[in-house]
Amino acid sequence: MRRARNLRGSVELPGDKSISHRYAMLAGIAEGASRLENYSTGADCASTLACMRALGVQWERKDKDNVIEVQGRGMALAAPASALDCGNSGSTMRMLSGIVAGQRFTSEMMGDESLSRRPMERVIKPLTAMGARIESEQGKPPLEITGGDLKAIDYTMPVASAQVKSCLLFAGLFADGETRIEEPLRTRDHGEVALRSFGAQVERKSRGPGSEVRIRGGQRLRGVETRIPGDLSSAAFFLCAAGLFPGSELAIPNLLMNPTRARLLDVLMAMGLRISVTQLEEVHGELVGSLQVEGGGLKGATIAGGDAAALIDEIPVLAAIAPYTEKGIEVRDAKELRVKESDRISAVATNLRLMGAEVEEFEDGLRIAGGQTLHGAELDSFGDHRIAMAFAVAALRAEGETVIRGADAAAISYPAFFPTLEGLLER
Ligand code: S3P
Repeated sequence: MRRARNLRGSVELPGDKSISHRYAMLAGIAEGASRLENYSTGADCASTLACMRALGVQWERKDKDNVIEVQGRGMALAAPASALDCGNSGSTMRMLSGIVAGQRFTSEMMGDESLSRRPMERVIKPLTAMGARIESEQGKPPLEITGGDLKAIDYTMPVASAQVKSCLLFAGLFADGETRIEEPLRTRDHGEVALRSFGAQVERKSRGPGSEVRIRGGQRLRGVETRIPGDLSSAAFFLCAAGLFPGSELAIPNLLMNPTRARLLDVLMAMGLRISVTQLEEVHGELVGSLQVEGGGLKGATIAGGDAAALIDEIPVLAAIAPYTEKGIEVRDAKELRVKESDRISAVATNLRLMGAEVEEFEDGLRIAGGQTLHGAELDSFGDHRIAMAFAVAALRAEGETVIRGADAAAISYPAFFPTLEGLLER
C-alpha cells in the first residue's frame, strides 16, 4: 500500500456479515423458501451456508446480486455426515451451536487454527444448562453437541456478546417454556430483528445499560424475501480512510444503520467527519440509509464502557488511524478484542509500532497519541481480516510503502476490499 492524496467516489457494500449469518441459519429452519439478496460475499458467511447444507438444507446461489435461495426444512435438520466446518467464523460456531443443540442427533463443529483458540465456554455453559450435552477441548473447539429436549432457562450473560445472545435465542425456539436472557450491555440486536422477520415473537426490554430478551419455545418460522443492507463494519474502513483527507468525498448507498451498530457514525461525526444521511428506510426491521461523507481534520476520541461493546469490530481501524488525529484515541473496556480472530489489541499495537507510532497498551485497550507521523513498514495481518484492512487504511497517510503479510485474510468478510479501496483513491 502507498500513500494517497485523497479519496473520492461512491461505494456500495456487500450485505452485512452479522445479518447474513442469522438469515442463512433461520432460513434453514423456517418453513418454505427464503430469498436473500445481497448476501455477504465473505468466506465466513459461506462457512455458515456450507454448514447448513451439511445439515440437510438445500440452497442455491444466483450470481447476480449475490442472491441465495434457501429451501427451509422446518425445525428438524438432518444429522451431518461429517464435522461441520466453521472455518474462521466464530459467529458460525457460536450461533449455529444454538440450533444444533435443539436437534436429536450429535454434531461435531470444528474450525481453523484461529477459531480453535477461541473461547466457547460462553455458549457451552448455558446450552448445557438447557439440556444439551457438549464436549470440547477445555472450552475450546472442536465441539461435539448432542441435542434435543431442551428446557428454557433464565440466563444472565457474564460477557456482553451478541453471538451468545443469538445462540440462546435460537436454542430457545427449541426449548420447552420461555427463555429469558439478560445482557449486561446492549449489543447488536440482529438476532431479535431477524427472528421477528421470520415470524417469531421476541420480547425486549431495556435494563440499565443492557437489556432483557425473551422468547417462547415451539414457535415456527416462515421463509422471508429480503435484501440484506450493506455491511457497516466493512464501510468503517472507507469512512476512516475518508477521515484521513480533508478534501475527501464519499457516497455510500444502502448501508445498514441499525442503532445498535451505528455508533461509529456518531464517533466519527464527533471527531469532525461530516456525514449526512438520506433515504432512511426500514427493511424487515433493519434501518437502511444512504450516506454522504465529507472529510475534515479528525479530532480524537475516548471509547469505553458501552461504546466499546457497540464499536467492537470498528476499534481496530479507529485505532489504526488514531496517530493521524489531532488528540489521539483511547480505548478501554475492550478486553474482548483479545479473543477475536487475533488478539486485536496486541496486533494493532505491534503494527502501529512497526510504523513508528508511540502506543500504550493496556489489558483492556490502547492509548494512542495524535499528531504522529508514521512510515511504511512490513506488517502482519495476524491472519485477521479486520487487521489487514485497518492497516491498509493506516498506510494511506504513511511515508513510503507498507506491505501487509497475509492481507488476503480480508476475504473472510470482504473479498473485494483492496480493489474497491484502490478505485476510490487519488494518488
Ligand atoms: C457479532 C458479534 C460480535 C462481533 C462479531 C459479530 C455478531 O462478537 O465481534 O464480529 O454477529 O453477533 P461477540 O458477540 O462475540 O462480541
